[in-house]
Amino acid sequence: MASKLKLGINIDHVATIRNARGGLHPDPIKAALIAQSAGADNITAHLREDRRHISDIDIKKLVRKLRIPLNLEMAPTKEMLKIAINSKVKRVCLVPEKRKEITTEGGLNVIRNKKKISLIITKLQNYNIKVSLFIDPCLKQIGVCKELKASSVELHTGEFCDNKKNKKKEFIQIKKSANFAKNNKLECHAGHGLKYNDVKEIAKINEITELNIGHFIIGESIFDGLKQSILKMRKIIDSSRKKSFYLKSA
Ligand code: PXP
Repeated sequence: MASKLKLGINIDHVATIRNARGGLHPDPIKAALIAQSAGADNITAHLREDRRHISDIDIKKLVRKLRIPLNLEMAPTKEMLKIAINSKVKRVCLVPEKRKEITTEGGLNVIRNKKKISLIITKLQNYNIKVSLFIDPCLKQIGVCKELKASSVELHTGEFCDNKKNKKKEFIQIKKSANFAKNNKLECHAGHGLKYNDVKEIAKINEITELNIGHFIIGESIFDGLKQSILKMRKIIDSSRKKSFYLKSA
Protein backbone atom coordinates (compact mmCIF):
# COMPACT_ATOMS: atom_id res chain seq x y z
CA MET A 1 0.00 0.00 0.00
CA ALA A 2 1.18 3.53 -0.76
CA SER A 3 2.42 5.50 2.25
CA LYS A 4 0.52 8.56 3.42
CA LEU A 5 1.29 11.65 1.36
CA LYS A 6 2.42 14.47 3.64
CA LEU A 7 0.93 17.93 3.29
CA GLY A 8 2.89 21.09 3.99
CA ILE A 9 1.02 24.38 4.15
CA ASN A 10 2.65 27.51 2.79
CA ILE A 11 1.57 30.55 4.80
CA ASP A 12 3.30 33.27 2.75
CA HIS A 13 0.03 34.68 1.43
CA VAL A 14 -1.33 35.34 4.91
CA ALA A 15 1.72 37.57 5.40
CA THR A 16 1.07 39.21 2.01
CA ILE A 17 -2.38 40.31 3.21
CA ARG A 18 -0.96 41.47 6.56
CA ASN A 19 1.76 43.50 4.85
CA ALA A 20 -0.75 45.20 2.55
CA ARG A 21 -1.77 47.30 5.58
CA GLY A 22 1.61 47.32 7.29
CA GLY A 23 0.09 46.05 10.56
CA LEU A 24 -0.07 42.76 12.42
CA HIS A 25 -3.29 41.24 11.07
CA PRO A 26 -3.79 38.59 9.73
CA ASP A 27 -0.98 36.91 11.63
CA PRO A 28 0.77 34.15 9.65
CA ILE A 29 1.78 32.48 12.93
CA LYS A 30 -1.89 32.07 13.85
CA ALA A 31 -2.48 30.57 10.38
CA ALA A 32 0.45 28.19 10.91
CA LEU A 33 -0.95 27.04 14.26
CA ILE A 34 -4.39 26.48 12.71
CA ALA A 35 -2.76 24.49 9.89
CA GLN A 36 -0.90 22.45 12.52
CA SER A 37 -4.11 21.70 14.39
CA ALA A 38 -5.78 20.78 11.09
CA GLY A 39 -3.17 18.05 10.62
CA ALA A 40 -0.57 19.75 8.42
CA ASP A 41 2.70 17.83 8.37
CA ASN A 42 4.87 20.91 8.01
CA ILE A 43 4.67 24.66 7.57
CA THR A 44 6.42 26.20 4.61
CA ALA A 45 7.49 29.84 4.60
CA HIS A 46 9.62 31.64 2.02
CA LEU A 47 11.81 34.39 3.43
CA ARG A 48 12.39 36.43 0.29
CA GLU A 49 15.31 38.81 -0.13
CA ASP A 50 12.86 41.74 -0.45
CA ARG A 51 10.79 40.51 2.57
CA ARG A 52 7.60 41.08 0.60
CA HIS A 53 5.65 38.64 2.78
CA ILE A 54 7.30 36.55 5.52
CA SER A 55 9.64 38.51 7.82
CA ASP A 56 12.68 37.55 9.87
CA ILE A 57 10.59 37.84 13.05
CA ASP A 58 7.95 35.48 11.58
CA ILE A 59 10.64 32.86 11.07
CA LYS A 60 11.87 33.19 14.66
CA LYS A 61 8.31 32.88 16.00
CA LEU A 62 7.52 29.89 13.79
CA VAL A 63 10.63 28.04 14.99
CA ARG A 64 9.66 28.77 18.59
CA LYS A 65 5.95 27.94 18.38
CA LEU A 66 5.53 25.04 15.95
CA ARG A 67 5.50 21.38 16.95
CA ILE A 68 5.69 20.29 13.30
CA PRO A 69 8.75 21.09 11.16
CA LEU A 70 9.23 24.46 9.53
CA ASN A 71 10.35 24.13 5.93
CA LEU A 72 12.25 27.35 5.28
CA GLU A 73 12.31 28.27 1.59
CA MET A 74 15.19 30.53 0.68
CA ALA A 75 17.45 31.61 -2.12
CA PRO A 76 20.98 30.15 -2.02
CA THR A 77 22.66 33.32 -0.75
CA LYS A 78 25.08 34.11 2.08
CA GLU A 79 22.49 36.28 3.85
CA MET A 80 19.89 33.49 3.88
CA LEU A 81 22.47 30.88 4.89
CA LYS A 82 23.30 32.91 7.99
CA ILE A 83 19.60 33.33 8.86
CA ALA A 84 18.88 29.60 8.42
CA ILE A 85 21.75 28.64 10.70
CA ASN A 86 21.00 31.28 13.35
CA SER A 87 17.28 30.51 13.42
CA LYS A 88 17.98 26.81 14.07
CA VAL A 89 15.57 25.51 11.41
CA LYS A 90 15.80 21.79 10.69
CA ARG A 91 14.73 21.94 7.04
CA VAL A 92 15.56 24.23 4.16
CA CYS A 93 14.31 24.20 0.59
CA LEU A 94 16.56 26.13 -1.79
CA VAL A 95 14.60 28.03 -4.43
CA PRO A 96 15.55 30.43 -7.21
CA GLU A 97 14.60 34.05 -6.69
CA LYS A 98 14.22 36.99 -9.02
CA ARG A 99 13.32 40.34 -7.50
CA LYS A 100 10.66 41.24 -10.02
CA GLU A 101 8.86 37.89 -10.26
CA ILE A 102 5.33 37.59 -8.87
CA THR A 103 6.00 34.07 -7.62
CA THR A 104 8.81 31.50 -7.95
CA GLU A 105 9.15 31.06 -11.70
CA GLY A 106 10.62 27.66 -12.52
CA GLY A 107 13.01 25.59 -10.47
CA LEU A 108 16.63 26.07 -9.50
CA ASN A 109 19.13 25.39 -12.23
CA VAL A 110 21.39 23.14 -10.17
CA ILE A 111 23.45 22.25 -13.25
CA ARG A 112 24.41 25.86 -13.93
CA ASN A 113 24.80 26.85 -10.26
CA LYS A 114 26.34 23.61 -9.01
CA LYS A 115 29.36 25.11 -7.24
CA LYS A 116 27.44 27.85 -5.42
CA ILE A 117 24.64 25.46 -4.36
CA SER A 118 27.13 22.81 -3.27
CA LEU A 119 28.80 25.28 -0.87
CA ILE A 120 25.46 26.28 0.64
CA ILE A 121 24.33 22.64 1.02
CA THR A 122 27.56 21.63 2.75
CA LYS A 123 27.31 24.53 5.20
CA LEU A 124 23.65 23.80 6.00
CA GLN A 125 24.37 20.09 6.44
CA ASN A 126 27.20 20.92 8.86
CA TYR A 127 24.42 22.24 11.09
CA ASN A 128 22.27 19.12 10.58
CA ILE A 129 19.82 21.01 8.38
CA LYS A 130 18.11 18.81 5.79
CA VAL A 131 18.26 20.34 2.33
CA SER A 132 15.69 20.04 -0.42
CA LEU A 133 16.17 21.51 -3.90
CA PHE A 134 13.22 22.99 -5.78
CA ILE A 135 13.72 22.01 -9.41
CA ASP A 136 11.79 21.50 -12.62
CA PRO A 137 10.84 17.87 -13.28
CA CYS A 138 13.98 17.13 -15.30
CA LEU A 139 16.11 13.98 -14.96
CA LYS A 140 19.41 15.82 -15.55
CA GLN A 141 18.67 18.26 -12.73
CA ILE A 142 17.75 15.37 -10.43
CA GLY A 143 21.04 13.63 -11.29
CA VAL A 144 22.95 16.70 -10.10
CA CYS A 145 20.82 16.93 -6.92
CA LYS A 146 21.99 13.40 -6.15
CA GLU A 147 25.64 14.40 -6.72
CA LEU A 148 25.11 17.39 -4.44
CA LYS A 149 23.92 15.01 -1.69
CA ALA A 150 20.58 16.78 -1.16
CA SER A 151 18.08 14.92 1.06
CA SER A 152 15.19 15.59 -1.26
CA VAL A 153 14.00 17.32 -4.39
CA GLU A 154 10.79 19.28 -4.71
CA LEU A 155 9.38 19.08 -8.22
CA HIS A 156 7.87 22.30 -9.57
CA THR A 157 4.29 21.46 -10.56
CA GLY A 158 3.51 24.92 -11.99
CA GLU A 159 3.75 23.86 -15.64
CA PHE A 160 1.41 20.93 -15.00
CA CYS A 161 -1.13 23.10 -13.19
CA ASP A 162 -1.09 26.01 -15.64
CA ASN A 163 -0.68 24.12 -18.88
CA LYS A 164 -4.12 23.44 -20.30
CA LYS A 165 -3.03 21.70 -23.53
CA ASN A 166 -0.14 19.45 -22.51
CA LYS A 167 -1.32 18.36 -19.08
CA LYS A 168 -0.77 14.67 -19.81
CA LYS A 169 2.77 15.29 -21.07
CA GLU A 170 3.60 17.36 -17.99
CA PHE A 171 2.09 14.71 -15.71
CA ILE A 172 4.18 11.94 -17.30
CA GLN A 173 7.31 14.08 -16.90
CA ILE A 174 6.55 14.55 -13.18
CA LYS A 175 5.88 10.83 -12.76
CA LYS A 176 9.16 9.90 -14.52
CA SER A 177 11.08 12.44 -12.46
CA ALA A 178 9.59 11.21 -9.18
CA ASN A 179 10.51 7.65 -10.11
CA PHE A 180 14.06 8.69 -11.03
CA ALA A 181 14.43 10.60 -7.75
CA LYS A 182 13.27 7.61 -5.73
CA ASN A 183 15.64 5.27 -7.59
CA ASN A 184 18.45 7.69 -6.72
CA LYS A 185 17.46 7.60 -3.04
CA LEU A 186 16.20 11.17 -3.01
CA GLU A 187 12.96 11.89 -1.22
CA CYS A 188 10.56 13.43 -3.70
CA HIS A 189 8.28 16.37 -2.84
CA ALA A 190 6.17 18.47 -5.19
CA GLY A 191 4.41 21.79 -5.21
CA HIS A 192 3.45 25.09 -6.80
CA GLY A 193 0.10 26.09 -8.22
CA LEU A 194 -1.72 22.99 -6.95
CA LYS A 195 -5.50 23.18 -6.75
CA TYR A 196 -8.13 20.55 -5.88
CA ASN A 197 -8.23 19.11 -9.41
CA ASP A 198 -4.47 19.04 -9.95
CA VAL A 199 -3.87 17.40 -6.61
CA LYS A 200 -6.18 14.52 -7.53
CA GLU A 201 -3.70 13.51 -10.23
CA ILE A 202 -0.43 14.36 -8.50
CA ALA A 203 -1.46 12.42 -5.37
CA LYS A 204 -1.58 9.26 -7.51
CA ILE A 205 2.19 9.35 -7.99
CA ASN A 206 3.31 7.06 -5.17
CA GLU A 207 6.96 8.14 -5.35
CA ILE A 208 5.97 11.62 -4.19
CA THR A 209 6.01 11.75 -0.41
CA GLU A 210 5.08 15.38 0.32
CA LEU A 211 3.13 18.22 -1.25
CA ASN A 212 3.56 21.88 -0.36
CA ILE A 213 0.53 24.03 -1.08
CA GLY A 214 -0.15 27.68 -0.31
CA HIS A 215 -1.90 30.14 -2.56
CA PHE A 216 -4.94 28.03 -3.42
CA ILE A 217 -5.62 26.94 0.17
CA ILE A 218 -5.32 30.48 1.52
CA GLY A 219 -7.56 31.68 -1.34
CA GLU A 220 -10.17 28.99 -0.70
CA SER A 221 -10.17 29.80 3.01
CA ILE A 222 -11.72 33.15 2.09
CA PHE A 223 -14.74 31.35 0.67
CA ASP A 224 -14.89 28.59 3.27
CA GLY A 225 -14.39 31.00 6.17
CA LEU A 226 -15.88 34.27 4.93
CA LYS A 227 -19.40 33.52 6.11
CA GLN A 228 -18.12 32.64 9.61
CA SER A 229 -16.15 35.90 9.86
CA ILE A 230 -19.13 38.02 8.75
CA LEU A 231 -21.47 36.25 11.18
CA LYS A 232 -19.00 36.74 14.03
CA MET A 233 -18.66 40.47 13.21
CA ARG A 234 -22.46 40.78 13.04
CA LYS A 235 -22.81 39.13 16.44
CA ILE A 236 -20.18 41.38 18.04
CA ILE A 237 -21.77 44.51 16.51
CA ASP A 238 -25.23 43.56 17.72
CA SER A 239 -24.17 42.72 21.26
CA SER A 240 -21.87 45.77 21.56
CA ARG A 241 -24.67 48.15 20.56
CA LYS A 242 -26.05 47.74 24.07
CA LYS A 243 -23.02 48.81 26.09
CA SER A 244 -20.03 51.13 25.60
CA PHE A 245 -16.91 50.72 27.70
CA TYR A 246 -15.52 54.09 26.56
CA LEU A 247 -18.75 56.07 27.02
CA LYS A 248 -19.25 54.68 30.51
CA SER A 249 -15.71 55.54 31.60
CA ALA A 250 -15.71 59.03 29.96
N1 PXP B 1 6.87 24.93 -3.02
C1 PXP B 1 7.76 25.90 -3.33
C2 PXP B 1 9.21 25.55 -3.37
C3 PXP B 1 7.33 27.23 -3.55
O1 PXP B 1 8.21 28.19 -3.84
C4 PXP B 1 5.94 27.52 -3.42
C5 PXP B 1 5.47 28.92 -3.60
O2 PXP B 1 6.04 29.76 -2.65
C6 PXP B 1 5.07 26.47 -3.09
C7 PXP B 1 5.55 25.18 -2.93
C8 PXP B 1 3.60 26.70 -2.94
O3 PXP B 1 3.06 27.13 -4.15
P1 PXP B 1 1.55 27.67 -4.17
O4 PXP B 1 1.52 28.85 -3.26
O5 PXP B 1 1.35 28.03 -5.61
O6 PXP B 1 0.68 26.56 -3.70
